[in-house]
Amino acid sequence: MSWGLKNRLSRIIQKDGRTLMFAVDHGYFLGAITGIKQPKKMLDKIVPYADAVMLTRGMVNSALRYDTSQPIILRADGGPSIAAEKNNSNKLSNHEIMITLEDAVKLNASAVAISIFVGTKHETQTMNNLSRMVSEAEKYGMPVLAVTAVGAELDAMKAQSNKKDKEKFRQYLTLACRMASEHGAHLVKTYYCKEGFSEVTGSCLVPVVMAGGKAGDPLGALKETYEAVKGGAIGVDMGRNIFQSVNPVAMIKSVRSVIHEGYRPNKAFKLYKSLL
Ligand code: R5P
Repeated sequence: MSWGLKNRLSRIIQKDGRTLMFAVDHGYFLGAITGIKQPKKMLDKIVPYADAVMLTRGMVNSALRYDTSQPIILRADGGPSIAAEKNNSNKLSNHEIMITLEDAVKLNASAVAISIFVGTKHETQTMNNLSRMVSEAEKYGMPVLAVTAVGAELDAMKAQSNKKDKEKFRQYLTLACRMASEHGAHLVKTYYCKEGFSEVTGSCLVPVVMAGGKAGDPLGALKETYEAVKGGAIGVDMGRNIFQSVNPVAMIKSVRSVIHEGYRPNKAFKLYKSLL
């Protein structure tokens, strides 16, 4: 690993080995969803509490303060929208690389993010996106975050309650994370699963961060964060549970307390309520 790559990673992963990434890249396929309709003010308020902020180049250029000290994780792929997915299942996975490494360096990115869609029609294509991006990025000392197993279908898999389906979900996450790391990702982002998450993190060759998923009750998100870290994740890359919260600053501070101060979920929730 080159010095530049280690240096960039050290900006994202803090001295305690943990990280709180704030994900705000959703608009690249979902458009102006709740919480990011007017992103500038929201970013001004929340980004200072994050260890890194994950967003698109449009968001960086139009809404992120140029003097921000938080490292940027730049969404580097995309293409299809949620509208395309409605008309043709499997379309959303049809991602292509959308930016060059020069674009990323120009924006002073500390990492780039690429999605992989294991098990879909576009798994080879998106694996190829990841692998090509890793080859290019390593020339610049730029880490690559692979995003796997997020989205509506995975939300549904995550919500399954019978044992067999839970096991299938764990197997899927294990496979996807391992594949991402085999293809050279330096960090992997994936959903949390209740059963066997430590096997997911333990069989991935690189550090794993948990994606937040659909906004839910704050205590639930804090519990998942706690369990994910206990299960071997180095932190989270969380979006909607923060920016769609009734009080995003209270929420991100509480998530921070779990990741960096070892707060248990109930203590972190108490903190959340005290900040409302
Ligand atoms: C999805 O592809 C995006 O990378 C999101 O940033 C990701 O799902 C994390 O955000 P959330 O916590 O809202 O799920």
